[in-house]
Amino acid sequence: MLKISSPEKLRELSLEAKEEGLTVGLVPTMGYLHEGHLSLVRRARERNDFVIVSIFVNPTQFGPGEDLDKYPRDLARDEALLDAAGVDLLFIPTPEDVYPEGFQSVVHLEHITKPLCGAHRPGHFDGVCTVVLKLFNMSAADDAYFGMKDYQQLKVIERMVKDLNVGVRIEGMPIIREPDGLAMSSRNKYLSDPERQRALALSKSLDKAEELVGGGLIEPAELISEVRSVLEAANLEIDYVELLGAENLDRIESLKGNLLLAIAAYVGTTRLIDNRVLVAR
Ligand code: PAJ
Repeated sequence: MLKISSPEKLRELSLEAKEEGLTVGLVPTMGYLHEGHLSLVRRARERNDFVIVSIFVNPTQFGPGEDLDKYPRDLARDEALLDAAGVDLLFIPTPEDVYPEGFQSVVHLEHITKPLCGAHRPGHFDGVCTVVLKLFNMSAADDAYFGMKDYQQLKVIERMVKDLNVGVRIEGMPIIREPDGLAMSSRNKYLSDPERQRALALSKSLDKAEELVGGGLIEPAELISEVRSVLEAANLEIDYVELLGAENLDRIESLKGNLLLAIAAYVGTTRLIDNRVLVAR
């Protein structure tokens, strides 16, 4: 596995691969890799001839008071995992490589960034979209892989690619969970043992919602209130529990069609997110 930090070199190597007739797959990450990340890497390895993974803790998508400075890192372990997964090229730029002096461009999407994390983390999606579009341009990727764990992020990126005619095919991949249901996340590292137990309420509340909808519950407000009580019983501080249309994240009037049930909650000081797409008839 080749390891580089220069955006110019990344583009050069990728274009070289494409000239040889290879397809290029990109998996953008912030590192501290787990099975969720690796599921994307394996999919890229299956679908593409030349696989690029980026590790970059992107400062512009963190708000003031968020965990940029303490975001977990273990480059040696990440490198070993990616090497074993058959990755061709690891791109690890510095902030200066990505945002050179004088940088002043922002990619901003309107409606789809308004609810959920967009409402609770101002500027977050501007940071995500700007860096992801830069990574697409630097890597000249044919395909890029994102997890449904960050469902809104996936939808925002799909929208950006459509709106701006970006020639990258986006593939969304299912949420990978721990055996007990907790969605894998680099931030799970922050949890103490008792917090790790309480964090299970997120996936449990989604299980319960799925059961209720399967059993014929039709009232959105009632469903949200049931989810909130599971989270509150575990003493989690709710940031949001929302039910939106799964395609465009628009408001819904009734429990019908494909719906996104999305949660953000604090377990102690750690903010975790989880979601499930519910199919209501
Ligand atoms: P990061 O949180 O490192 O996640 C990188 C990718 O892994 C994202 O597409 C995310 O949805 C996916 N992922 C994380 N946990 C997952 C899980 N449990 N199951 C499946 N996929 C999972 O998301 C980011 O980084 C950044 O915002 C980034 C896109 C790299 C831009 O900076």
